[in-house]
Amino acid sequence: MKRSIFYLGLAVLATACAPKQTVYLSDLDLSYMTSGWGTPKADSSVTGTPLSIAGTVYERGVGSHASSEMAFTHDGSAGRFTAMVGLDDNATDTGTVEFYVFTDKGLAFSSGVMRTGDPAIPVDVNLRGVQELFLMATTTADGQAYDHANWADAQFTCNSVPQPTDRYIHEEPYLLTPPAAATPRINGAKVYGVTPGKPFLFRVATTGERPINFSATGLPEGLVLDAETGIISGTSPARGEYPVAITASNSKGECIDTLKIVSGDKLALTPHMGWNSWYIHLLGVTQKDMEDAARAMVSTGLADYGYCFVNIDDGWMIKVNSDDPVIGGPLRAKDGTILCNENFPDMKAFTDLAHSLGLKAGLYTSPGSATCGGYAGALNHEEQDAKTFAEWGFDFLKYDWCSYGWDVKNDSNDPDYFRKPYIKMNQYLRALPRDIVYNLCQYGMDNVWEWGAEVGGQSWRTRGDIGGPSLVDNMFSMGFFQGTIKDYSGPGGWNDPDYLLFGDIYDFETGGTKRSDMSPSEQYTCMTLWCMISAPLIFSGDITTLDEFTLNVLCNAEVIAVDQDPLGKSGYCISDESMIEVWEKPLADGSWAVSVFNRRPTDATVEVDWKKLGYGQVKQVRDLWRQVDMGDIGAVSELEIPRHGCMMFKMVK
Ligand code: GLA
Repeated sequence: MKRSIFYLGLAVLATACAPKQTVYLSDLDLSYMTSGWGTPKADSSVTGTPLSIAGTVYERGVGSHASSEMAFTHDGSAGRFTAMVGLDDNATDTGTVEFYVFTDKGLAFSSGVMRTGDPAIPVDVNLRGVQELFLMATTTADGQAYDHANWADAQFTCNSVPQPTDRYIHEEPYLLTPPAAATPRINGAKVYGVTPGKPFLFRVATTGERPINFSATGLPEGLVLDAETGIISGTSPARGEYPVAITASNSKGECIDTLKIVSGDKLALTPHMGWNSWYIHLLGVTQKDMEDAARAMVSTGLADYGYCFVNIDDGWMIKVNSDDPVIGGPLRAKDGTILCNENFPDMKAFTDLAHSLGLKAGLYTSPGSATCGGYAGALNHEEQDAKTFAEWGFDFLKYDWCSYGWDVKNDSNDPDYFRKPYIKMNQYLRALPRDIVYNLCQYGMDNVWEWGAEVGGQSWRTRGDIGGPSLVDNMFSMGFFQGTIKDYSGPGGWNDPDYLLFGDIYDFETGGTKRSDMSPSEQYTCMTLWCMISAPLIFSGDITTLDEFTLNVLCNAEVIAVDQDPLGKSGYCISDESMIEVWEKPLADGSWAVSVFNRRPTDATVEVDWKKLGYGQVKQVRDLWRQVDMGDIGAVSELEIPRHGCMMFKMVK
């Protein structure tokens, strides 16, 4: 009797808590769901066809495209989220996607890698006690082609329906980088490539209390070091390798370091570091902005960490077909020389200023008739423009495809079509009397990483633009993708996943300025990842309004040393467990940079089995962001890593 009362009690309880309603995911506001391509669709695939997975057609559900994410808040009441996940049958090629459901308690579901044609996998998540819920469909290493990700039959069966919410979760900035010591420390590149007989300029990037006195032994003939500024200038020596011992000393102590000058055929023996005007000034950039940027690079201390290129992006030329008195007018002088618009009255004055500070100056143009912003490009004037850029004193050229595809069509399916404009400009650049670092920008077409070095590039953008409304998604997808093309990057030619967008950046919605959309943890992740993959470190936010947090992300000497490591290897992923990734990168001194990334939408206590990853018996471990030695980390560590955050170590095995 007692027993049956007990069972009756349970039944009553179950009825009282029984889910009262079923709400389909496709009935909710899908504007909260992000999509790697197109827009998520209710009750159809992302391309508008009926939802279909491995031949089964579903009436209800949501069709998205990886990488895609939707976040919800929930009151913790009982309920379930159920769905059948898989790739839509409509794709003309095979896509690969991983589906995840996370709650604030951690991982609730993961599908593993799914391909087009795989049977749907059921999802069933208990919502009791859940405050936050995240539905995610992520791309895999092969990129985001045909990743038509379906949440078929997706429904909430519950008392109260989880509410879609903006993914942005506020995170207070936190500082990891300790202040630089007062004693001198030489930072940045330790190996520097130049061409014999061309002008030489190198600023020894050094932190520490000023004044600092610089001296050098082993400096080749033709070069002088300014004792006060640490700027080495002159004419590049004859072909050969020149190890130069540089001493930086002040009242607190001294630092001796070796800079290896390699005079030969290769520039950019370490990834370039600097600043670019695009994501703060857009097309409105002026000469004054550039001069302010050059001065700020020194006054903020960025130059003391190795940042040295000050690069003008699009918008310095005359705008095609514009009658605006400032930017309109004839595109070229009578002799064909490219003309600057009125925002740039004296290019030479800008490069002179940059050089006087020991910095380098960069410029932008397109192989097409017009740049992406509609300004005059170099088509049919390539040689003349290259010469003009050198006369003006530039040290860097970003060559942006833009209108080239319309101007020069590939009607005969020429296999070298994508390379040709880059080969052409390279030939003129190399004939110039100065070294010009050559950055190919064509968004990764025709797997540019496979031939970027061959056509003379020192770096090549591997994907589209990082900035805009999907900055965070772009940072993740472009950055983490680079591990798969690691073998194409190295001294003299680097994969370029685009700029560092920290601090204040251009707001494409309002035309004003806004704080970076990346949370503080995401900014640390971006900087860490870029250094792990030996990416060019080109900051493109406002260099004149740098706050303490942004400087601490940009200026950690030990983190930057991983990027600038002379071995020049690109890092790669060695473990990926449901969006917790561990990456490693071999360094020149035989040690390893190892980073742990939490790509999950929630904070995580991450268990890392060092032994399994080959780091079971390390002699030394240093936390690079905090710049502290960690002692014995044991075979397994538990690391607290915020959502989208990371930790970065240097390990000696
Ligand atoms: C393209 C490039 C950007 C920027 C703009 C300028 O979109 O990828 O980096 O240079 O052009 O118009």
